[in-house]
Amino acid sequence: MTSLTDRKNAAISRGVGMTTQIYADRAENSEIWDKEGNRYIDFAAGIAVVNTGHRHPRIIEAVKAQIDRFTHTCHQVVPYESYVHLAERLNALAPGNFAKKTIFVTTGAEAVENAVKIARAATGRQAIVAFGGGFHGRTFMGMALTGKVVPYKIGFGAMPGDVFHAPFPIELHGVSVEQSIAALKKLFAADVDPARVAAIILEPVQGEGGFYPAPASFMRALREICDQHGILLIADEVQTGFARTGKLFAMDHHDVAADLMTMAKSLAGGFPLAAVTGRAEIMDAPAPGGLGGTYGGSPIGIAAAHAVLDIIEDEKLCERAEQLGSRLKQRLAAIREQAPEIVDIRGPGFMNAVEFNDVKTNLPSADFANRVRLIALEKGLILLTCGVHGNVIRFLAPITIQDEVFAEALDILEASIIEARA
Ligand SMILES: Cc1ncc(COP(=O)(O)O)c(C=O)c1O
Repeated sequence: MTSLTDRKNAAISRGVGMTTQIYADRAENSEIWDKEGNRYIDFAAGIAVVNTGHRHPRIIEAVKAQIDRFTHTCHQVVPYESYVHLAERLNALAPGNFAKKTIFVTTGAEAVENAVKIARAATGRQAIVAFGGGFHGRTFMGMALTGKVVPYKIGFGAMPGDVFHAPFPIELHGVSVEQSIAALKKLFAADVDPARVAAIILEPVQGEGGFYPAPASFMRALREICDQHGILLIADEVQTGFARTGKLFAMDHHDVAADLMTMAKSLAGGFPLAAVTGRAEIMDAPAPGGLGGTYGGSPIGIAAAHAVLDIIEDEKLCERAEQLGSRLKQRLAAIREQAPEIVDIRGPGFMNAVEFNDVKTNLPSADFANRVRLIALEKGLILLTCGVHGNVIRFLAPITIQDEVFAEALDILEASIIEARA
C-alpha cells in the first residue's frame, strides 16, 4: 500500500516543506491525534495560530452560528456589521493614542503587502527598510523584506526594488543596539536617502529569525529616526500578536507606538484572517478600490476573531501567558545545569525560545536543536526550530494548555534535551 508520505511526495510540490510526517486526524486544545490514533502535545499551535487552543468551544460556536447565517458576500459588495465591529475593536485595542482605521485581508503576507502599499500611498515615497533575520512572508514583497535567503528567496529571481536591510540588534550574536542604529544611519548615508524611505518594518520579537525581542531602547531609537525623517514605523505583529508575549500585542511592551501594525495567525484562532491597523489618516491614503480582496475579512474569520478577543479577555490569557512562560523558562534554566549546549533562554510572556551551541566549537548547533526536536516528536511532543542558524527551539503551545498536559510536555522536553546529548 502506498504510504501517505509517498502520496504526498507524488502529489504536492516539494516546495511546501514539512517538519513532521504526522497526518492530523483531530485536535483539541493543546493535543493532536494522528490517523493511527497516536496522540501529540502541540507546542507549535499551527505556527502561532491557535493561541486559544485547537477548537476552542466558543470559537466553534461563533463560526457555526455564522455559517448558519451566511458564509460569503465579499465585504466590498455587500458589507456586514461584524467586519465594522471587529475593526472598531482592533482600533481601540491596538497600541497608540491616536485615531485608527483597519482593513482585513486573509494572510500575514497579504497584511505585510498592504501595509507597504498604504505606507507608500501615504508618504509618496518608495523605499522600505527591514532587518536581517526578519521574516515577513512568501509573497514577492514579503520575500524581499525577509532578511534570510535560504530557503525563502532561492530560485525566485529578482526581488522588488527599493528594499534595504539593516542588522537587527542581537547582543548574543555580537550586534548591540548602538551598532544596529549606526548601521541604519550608514545605510542612509551610503545607499538610500532617508527622505525617500516610506517605512521601516520590523517584528517586535523576531519570529522565524529566532525569537529575539527588539530592545526597548532600539524601538525608541527607531521611532525617533522615523519622526526625524518622516518615515512610518510598521510593526509586523503577525507572530507576536494576541496574548503570546503576555500582552495583547508585543508593541504594548514599548513606550512608543508604530504607525501601522500587521496581524494574522492567532487573530482568528485557526481561521484565515489578517489585518492592518494604523493611524486613520495614513490608512485613508489609498484610493477607494486600492485595498481589499475577494476573501478579505471573510465573515467566518471575523466571527472567529470576535470570539478570540472575548476569550483572551475572559480567560485572562495575557496573565496565563506570563505564568506559563515563567514556568517554562524556570524549567529550562534547571535543564541548563545538565546541558551546557543551552546558551540562551529568552522571550517575553509565552513567546519563549532556547538556543543551542555545540559544546566543543561553541558555534550555533542546528544539529543539536534538530536532534532535540526529533527525539521529542518520538516521545509525543511537537516542537519547532527557528533562527537564522537553525539552532533555536521556539515554544508556541496554546496559551490555554491544561496544567497537567503542560507538566507532561516539560518532562518530555527535559528528557529529549538530555537524550540529545548522548
Ligand atoms: C512576522 C511574520 N510576518 C508575516 C508572516 C507571513 O504570514 P502568512 O504565512 O500568514 O502569510 C509570518 C509567518 O510566519 C510572520 O511570522
